[in-house]
Amino acid sequence: MGRSVVGRSRRDISWHSPSVALQRCLATNNRRSPFPCPEIEDGHILYDTFCSSCHGGNAASSALVPDLRYATATTHGLFEQIVRDGAKAKTGMPSFADDLTSAQVRMIQAYVLDRARQSAQAAAATKR
Ligand code: HEC
Repeated sequence: MGRSVVGRSRRDISWHSPSVALQRCLATNNRRSPFPCPEIEDGHILYDTFCSSCHGGNAASSALVPDLRYATATTHGLFEQIVRDGAKAKTGMPSFADDLTSAQVRMIQAYVLDRARQSAQAAAATKR
């Protein structure tokens, strides 16, 4: 992969525990960037590189491949198994074990969850 996002140290975030770092960032960010946290921004780059060809730009897919914004909690619990261990390889979801580390997969997951949050907020706003 041309641009490496792991090991890029910004804002003193520990890349060994992105979930803890992400929680800290989400709790303290002032939302001036379109991406609230560096993990989500890096997850966006990784998503565009490895996932968008099938799952769609901005994590919004046509009906043929699951729209990851609407993935269930169960699917999120299995995210690593699906994306790195090839749990759904038989049905067309390839394993990315050779391309992505576990930390990178968590960044993509953070990006997908952020997109889900945005879509849910937009849907709630139009209902009012
Ligand atoms: C070659 C096309 C392709 C690419 C590239 C791809 N996927 Fe998938 N993905 C699929 C297909 C097809 C399914 C549906 C498999 C099934 O339902 O059994 C799927 C399913 C999934 C699911 C389960 C969704 C659900 O709601 O059940 C997740 C999570 C997922 N992909 C994540 C990713 C991530 C993250 C990437 C990028 C690292 C990625 N995929 C790249 C084709 C792809």
